[in-house]
Amino acid sequence: MIRLHNIHKTYVLDSGRQVQALKGIDLEIRDGEIFGVIGLSGAGKSTLIRIINMLERPTEGSVEVNGTELTSLNDAQLRAERRRIGMIFQQFNLLSSQTVSGNVAFPLLLERHADKSKVRERVLELLKLVGLEDKADVYPSELSGGQKQRVGIARALATDPKILLCDEATSALDPKTTASILRLLTSLRKKLGLTIVIITHQMEVIKECCDRVAVLDGGLISELGSTLEIFSTPKQDLTKRLVSAAVRRDVQDLLEHLKVHEKPEEGDALALELLFLGEKANDPVIVEVAERSRARISILGGAINHIQGQPLGNLVVELAGAPEVIENALKMLQEKVFRVTVLGYAAKGGQNHD
Ligand SMILES: Nc1ncnc2c1ncn2[C@@H]1O[C@H](COP(=O)(O)OP(=O)(O)OP(=O)(O)O)[C@@H](O)[C@H]1O
Ligand SMILES: [Mg+2]
Repeated sequence: MIRLHNIHKTYVLDSGRQVQALKGIDLEIRDGEIFGVIGLSGAGKSTLIRIINMLERPTEGSVEVNGTELTSLNDAQLRAERRRIGMIFQQFNLLSSQTVSGNVAFPLLLERHADKSKVRERVLELLKLVGLEDKADVYPSELSGGQKQRVGIARALATDPKILLCDEATSALDPKTTASILRLLTSLRKKLGLTIVIITHQMEVIKECCDRVAVLDGGLISELGSTLEIFSTPKQDLTKRLVSAAVRRDVQDLLEHLKVHEKPEEGDALALELLFLGEKANDPVIVEVAERSRARISILGGAINHIQGQPLGNLVVELAGAPEVIENALKMLQEKVFRVTVLGYAAKGGQNHD
């Protein structure tokens, strides 16, 4: 368990100017979860994650990791605790003069009574874990970005930590490689019983693998919830924007070009955005409502995402028909669909109205 209480961090610049990077963070991260922290650049994400392993000391507040209060430890005690907290970085931070196995062995060789043959054995075991057993004697310059990050992960796990901190670990990677690294992290969580903290500015990363997520905004947590909650019912504007960018990309264009007005004119269609959650995303709800209400429903576009194994579907539709038919169809949809957002009325030029 990671417990942060009332964490403040103020940097004092050479000029004497102060930057309040964190302004009072309370956060509990449970054992075995993959916890995401998302926020815009400068929100304080890196500061927050570096406070968890005390690479950065908080100006105020307490940091409790597995029952130990880290802020009260001396340097030697802190080094010992840090062995139980691995970390990976956006730029991988590998030693270019060392082979892959040299890099992975590094934290093990720092130990006082390192037994070379045992280290070699452990390194091969770690490389196998990340799918790089054939790269032991290769130099980092010969690896792809995804392979470099796998080396970073193997090195971070060398001292058998129970916590893995990831600071923008996939930000330098293309989407396909990102997905494969996130799959690796998810499988390692299970295999090794890891607790994983992921810092990212990409909602896609959260969507792929996090159980819960905190939104960091200007040094404070503005919203926190399960990934499904955050994606299906975002509350703050920033969260809504982040979620939109990630799940509604396909309907975003459509919404921007949709010409709607508030007051209906004769023969107008009603434009709606529907959010389907869970198994309902697969229900033939639209067909049923169209049949029962006799409204004409046209589907303008949509997208389905999977979050924590659950389908979440966005659909933009237009209802056409007599006003009372539209109203009736809207009511039925509101009963059956997770969320219905009325976008407005759209002209249906030249069509027949009933
Ligand atoms: N070592 C430092 N000295 C002074 N100011 C710092 C230092 N590190 C961070 N800051 C400032 O603290 C604030 C938070 O920075 P931080 O790096 O934690 O944000 P971030 O969310 O990780 O941003 P990014 O997404 O760009 O990595 C910023 O205003 C930043 O300029
Ligand atoms: Mg950062």
